[in-house]
Amino acid sequence: MCGIIGYTGDGDTREILLTGLYGLEYRGYDSAGVALAGEPITVTKREGDVATLESALPAAEPDGTAGLGHTRWSTHGRPSDENAHPHTDCEGRVAVVHNGIIENYQTLRDELAARGHAFTSETDTEVVPHLLEERLAAGEDRETAFRQVVDRLEGSYAIAAVFEDTDVIYAARHESPLVVGLGDAGTYLASDVPAFIEYTDRVIYLEDGEFATLTPDGVTVTDASGAVVEPTVDEVDWEPEDAGKGGYDHYMKKEIHEQPRAIRNCLRGRVDADAGRLSLEALAALEAPTRVQLVACGTSYHAARYGARLLRERGVSAQAFLASEYRAATVPVDPETLVIGVTQSGETADTMRALREANDAGAVTLALTNTVGSSAARECDHVCYVRAGPEIGVAATKTFASQQVALAMVTSALVGQREPAFLEALRELPAQIQRVLDDSRTQAIADAYVDADAYFFIGREYTAPVALEGALKMKEITYKHAEGFAAGELKHGPLALVTEQTPVFALLTAGSRLEKTLGNVREVQARGAPVIAVTDVPERVRHSVDHVLEVPASHPTLTPILANVQLQLASYWIANRLERSIDKPRNLAKSVTVE
Ligand code: F6R
Repeated sequence: MCGIIGYTGDGDTREILLTGLYGLEYRGYDSAGVALAGEPITVTKREGDVATLESALPAAEPDGTAGLGHTRWSTHGRPSDENAHPHTDCEGRVAVVHNGIIENYQTLRDELAARGHAFTSETDTEVVPHLLEERLAAGEDRETAFRQVVDRLEGSYAIAAVFEDTDVIYAARHESPLVVGLGDAGTYLASDVPAFIEYTDRVIYLEDGEFATLTPDGVTVTDASGAVVEPTVDEVDWEPEDAGKGGYDHYMKKEIHEQPRAIRNCLRGRVDADAGRLSLEALAALEAPTRVQLVACGTSYHAARYGARLLRERGVSAQAFLASEYRAATVPVDPETLVIGVTQSGETADTMRALREANDAGAVTLALTNTVGSSAARECDHVCYVRAGPEIGVAATKTFASQQVALAMVTSALVGQREPAFLEALRELPAQIQRVLDDSRTQAIADAYVDADAYFFIGREYTAPVALEGALKMKEITYKHAEGFAAGELKHGPLALVTEQTPVFALLTAGSRLEKTLGNVREVQARGAPVIAVTDVPERVRHSVDHVLEVPASHPTLTPILANVQLQLASYWIANRLERSIDKPRNLAKSVTVE
């Protein structure tokens, strides 16, 4: 969705805001803008990316020391200079940035228009500075005016305002993330930590309903009633270079290559293969549930399907739901139900809605997330961090692998399974992923099939979710048609699409009924489709396919994680050949905080 950065202090405000915006570009990149406090406030905003904004920004330092920046992913109104944030009132005395959706904006806008306010954008956000203008004109002080206006908003928001000629930033959150950074040279505000990690690692995650007043010396946090709350100051253990490209051409490539480290982090202190021990703090206080429901979207949903299968195979009644359809599923939910929200950002609106419904129905909720302090982490009864480190590329890669590993651990912990071969396989997984990364032949596959009409992915049992994920990745970053199927489904319709121009990636792993999937391979070959096998048993399949992408042999439940790395690389190289915007695919945003 959108990204917010704010700063007040003695540093170079322009530079800090731009650094923050570059760090947040993954949240939205169809337009960007900054407001620098002073008399008057200077607002510069442009359709396009942050680099376009930077070249439009005046180089000279403004008078004031406070400022706000915003990078946008459109919801109300197309991408344009006018619709970019910050938005101002009629007189340009206040500038506002917002992430979320103001559901009652039309009513507010009609009211304001009737009172003579003229609007310059199609956004929902623009009502806010106009409402502030009215409250100030009525004689309210800035903080009271801000509170009164926020009280009138319905929907979801992380919102911040600066007024002319002051170094104070006012902010509030409801169902959209907002974090404050406490630095030596000032105070920061952002949608996410990478925006200011270069300057400070001391953070306060604001809670829903809280207001924050930022000055160069610190922050005052108040609750909805105005009472001061003592916030928890956390120290994040990310290094600034974690958020950079580290010599790779793209974040996505870097993050694919970070998977061995991400998995090691995910396992650290939780699995001791020598002692045959697996312990997850998050589950220590959990009663064995009667049933498990997993709610998630997109890539995380594919991880959830993998997790549901693992649980079912170990005798636990488990089902994965698309979070946006969870309510419609009308499944039984009670205090004996464990609902796991699988969400790397911990902020996805559909997933949060499903988790809140589960909470309301009395279920026990567990957030499986990569983001410390996220809404999911705070609102669920239990939290299990996947510890993948910051993921900037919009297409999820290392977080998917870490989610799968975390779900494998959650399953084992829930059912009390300590199979030595499984624990040993977990321990070996990072080094095996490294081997896949080192030996992958996916560049040659990309060269051979970059011009294909479409790509199909087939898998079975544990590899079926990976087939879906392979296709999603391919669509996202190549903009080409791609579909993933449970291999057995191919003949029930999709086969009509198969031609010589549609390469098929077949997940032919020993633990997922290889012979059956080989039968499906023969069906596509009969229609002329080239077949690329991803396999842990190359000698068994080599004679039956056109290309082989090998993965090391592992525990059958973990082989899909290795196979997925080959598919990530295949999509990456095809997108690279096509010169696509790999880290920021068109129309997408990393964190989708609207339903
Ligand atoms: C695809 C991708 C998305 C997300 C989905 C859920 O590469 O990243 O499909 O998986 O938007 O996001 P989270 O996991 O943050 O809830």
